[in-house]
Amino acid sequence: MKKTLLFLLTFHFLTINLVKADEGMWLPMLLKNNYAEMQRLGLKLTAEQLYDINNSSLKDAIVWFNGGCTSEIVSDKGLLLTNHHCGYGAIAAHSTASDNILDNGFWAKSLADEKDNPNMSASILVRMEDVSDRVNKALAGVEAKELEAKKMEIFKTIQKEITDKSSYDATVRSFFRDNAFYLFVFEKFTDIRLVATPPQSIGKFGGDTDNWMWPRHTGDFSVFRIYANKDNKPAPYSKDNIPYHPKKFLNISIKGLEEGDFTMVYGYPGRTNRYETSFGIQLAVDKTNPATVDLRDIRLKAWKEEMDKSDSIRLLLSSKYAQIANYWKYFIGQTEQLKRLKVFEEKQTSEKKFNEWAKNKPEYSSVLPTIENAYVDYNKYALHRTYMNEDILGSSIAAYALSFQDLEKALKAEKQDSAEINKAVRKLKADGDAFYKSFNVISDQKILASLSEMFYKNIPKDQHPAYMAEIMKQKKAKNTKEIFEKFAANVFKNSFMIHKTDVDKFLAKPDLKQLQNDPAYHFVKSFYDNYVTNIKPHADAFGIINNAQSSKYIKGLMEMQPDKKFYADANSTLRLTYGSVQAYSPKDAVNYKYYTTLTGVMEKEDPKNPEFNVPAKLKELYNKKDFGQYAGKNNDINVAFITNNDITGGNSGSPVINGNGELVGLAFDGNWEAMSGDIYYDSKYKRTICVDVRYVLFMIDKFGGATNLISEMNIIKN
Ligand code: ARG
Repeated sequence: MKKTLLFLLTFHFLTINLVKADEGMWLPMLLKNNYAEMQRLGLKLTAEQLYDINNSSLKDAIVWFNGGCTSEIVSDKGLLLTNHHCGYGAIAAHSTASDNILDNGFWAKSLADEKDNPNMSASILVRMEDVSDRVNKALAGVEAKELEAKKMEIFKTIQKEITDKSSYDATVRSFFRDNAFYLFVFEKFTDIRLVATPPQSIGKFGGDTDNWMWPRHTGDFSVFRIYANKDNKPAPYSKDNIPYHPKKFLNISIKGLEEGDFTMVYGYPGRTNRYETSFGIQLAVDKTNPATVDLRDIRLKAWKEEMDKSDSIRLLLSSKYAQIANYWKYFIGQTEQLKRLKVFEEKQTSEKKFNEWAKNKPEYSSVLPTIENAYVDYNKYALHRTYMNEDILGSSIAAYALSFQDLEKALKAEKQDSAEINKAVRKLKADGDAFYKSFNVISDQKILASLSEMFYKNIPKDQHPAYMAEIMKQKKAKNTKEIFEKFAANVFKNSFMIHKTDVDKFLAKPDLKQLQNDPAYHFVKSFYDNYVTNIKPHADAFGIINNAQSSKYIKGLMEMQPDKKFYADANSTLRLTYGSVQAYSPKDAVNYKYYTTLTGVMEKEDPKNPEFNVPAKLKELYNKKDFGQYAGKNNDINVAFITNNDITGGNSGSPVINGNGELVGLAFDGNWEAMSGDIYYDSKYKRTICVDVRYVLFMIDKFGGATNLISEMNIIKN
């Protein structure tokens, strides 16, 4: 990370330390170094109340939700709060045109109403442990190109020791690019039921227009419950399971917050790249980010056209659409803010300082020049790599077709092993069940045509697979566009993968020739094999150099500033970030408040735009000022607020906790002006957008009428 910024931060800590802390996603096990500062900022709990492995502590109420979000336990019956956008897939999966809970909402009035969700998980951290010495010993002397494989091997060995002798789940993670390694032991629950959700006109209010932006008026929450067996242990779904009795659940404060109040966010941030070099930023800004946006644009437009035709198609594609749209806008914003905040220039300045410091240090002097040099080659192939993921595999039929690879391998084997074939078939059946649930033929045919044409136009010809020339031989076509339309039409007419019934028939009696001649399979295999043979080796070689040198870079930065407290990039492990409620000014002459209200929801209402519809019942409550105990200032309901906590994707659904350890909100987004935040933390602009817990409770109580849930929780009024 850049030296200028580090310098500024040090300065900032020394001078206005008492006002804010902001940057940093800290491992709770190592919080001791930050504890005094947290107390100064307003934390009233002891360090042991935050994290303790022998006694129950706050960490026991923090739950990793489905491997991609965070949730928190709010009752002694395992009741979980998370974001609406984290429950979205499950909510959409339970929705049909006749029982449409995505649009109408759902409020379980008894345990029996709660809806079961296959393939869902909720994991609670039992403990974490520094295993650096052990991993380093295993990696000593290993060659750079063997390193990844050896690392995975020792990770697996350590994990297996836990899983073999307990019912726990375990994962080892690398920190600071292999400068430290920690083991995480979890209790992983898999019987997770949907308890309540507002209609998406509340849970996703503002839609993609407001996404990644403040001021925000979204009730981004949903409610689930962990079920366990009679011994309170994880168990697969069973009607005999009972609500989980947690070690700890969060009390909820409805007292409200003022600007400057202490807040912390406890959760599972997914990925940041704060130590990225200027070379990586240049590649992202110039090439890979814009390409990702253009390619996603094609998918989104094609899906939207079909979604607008009927409710059933809309429900089929909603979840997929939301996922792709979320990061489509993310990459637009990240590129814009990397430029606006001159992050490339910042990084260059700090790299210059590092080089000066490293000049006479053989271990570090060649670090940055080596990375720069590696980018020279990688720059030629990086776009192709993006196209592999976002273009070729962006076509869902192509991605699905590629999953037949293992079956092909098993059928091709000299000594055919029916166990291998059966295994591949079973896997394909399971993949197919998921695939056809969100597959729409009309949009995907268009997508295949446009995306393959994009590949033809934008990827250097000397990197094309030989099969591209076959496609181009298409006679009777007026122009390139028509060539690819005809190509896609042929795939959709002749592939057995278009209809589930044909796939079922094929899988009942799999045939190698039929698979190899299938046009969808043939297409994706040609492009994929070309990638693996001609492009991936360059990407891998780059990765090896970049990883090894970045590891040294971070080590060097730490040596260069021995007094600075470093935090590791996010990697889906439990972190705590602390700071306070803070307003901001997005640009000259404009000031944003730190909170929004229900009045703002009514101001944004637009009955003609589905993103801004307001349910009649909510308007009625608003007009009658029927706010119960949840009203804030001016007899209004506070909807959302912002803090300067340091979060990223994966933190979605994380509890925002006040100085007394009480839940005050749920983190659900970042703001536009700091979209470069995963690479560069800018304390002037970086904010966390949170839904106010009073809005959540008001919805559950007054809108949903689920007083059964309210009475389960421990609500602190004064
Ligand atoms: N940007 C949010 C995040 O990634 C997701 C918000 C979901 N809402 C939406 N309109 N897509 O955490």
